[in-house]
Amino acid sequence: MKLQYLGHSGFFFQDSQNRTILVDPFITGNPLTPVKTNQLTADYIILTHAHSDHFGDTLTIADKRKTTIICIAELASYISRKGFKTHSLQIGGSFSFDFGKVKLVPALHSSSTSDGAYAGPAAGAVFTVDNKTIYHCGDTGIFGDMKLIGEIDPIDVLLIPIGGNFTMDIEDAVRAVSLIQPKLTIPIHYNTFALIQANPQVFIDKIAANGYQGSALKPGEELNIS
Ligand code: NI
Ligand code: MN
Repeated sequence: MKLQYLGHSGFFFQDSQNRTILVDPFITGNPLTPVKTNQLTADYIILTHAHSDHFGDTLTIADKRKTTIICIAELASYISRKGFKTHSLQIGGSFSFDFGKVKLVPALHSSSTSDGAYAGPAAGAVFTVDNKTIYHCGDTGIFGDMKLIGEIDPIDVLLIPIGGNFTMDIEDAVRAVSLIQPKLTIPIHYNTFALIQANPQVFIDKIAANGYQGSALKPGEELNIS
């Protein structure tokens, strides 16, 4: 499986069958990413919630016939009213797609679209690509059931916010990693804006002291996971 960090909370995945999956593709207005929307195609787009720094360029990148947008039911209704293909889930629910299984899990956060529509609760997503299990926390504060999420589905790759203000800061994210016990942790949702400044190396060093491996990817950087 190939993974590319798009900056902020955005990721691109490509599986061994060349199926492509985007998560929270916020490109336009993201000052740190070198990636361009016209470089991205997606068979699937997973959205954690509707805030513009996550919904991002979804409707520009999605192909109305080819792309399935996977998200919470209320956001899916909003998107399908615009003529796009969606698959709605609720928190705790999962579905097996051709590339793997996607489950929505809780996130302590809010969600509404940029034009003010109600978009259901915010979520995290636990999903598999090439049988690797990824937990994208979305935007969230720390909560004790992260331990349960990591017990139900042992996590290979954890994508966790560290920027503070709107989400966990480094201190809480370090604690969350110890709850979830992932094999590899990649910090997200930091340094994009003035309010979410954080030093990822401080985070990586702190989780390393607890026995966890982390990697701070630069926006645009790719990683092969096997
Ligand atoms: Ni948000
Ligand atoms: Mn956000």
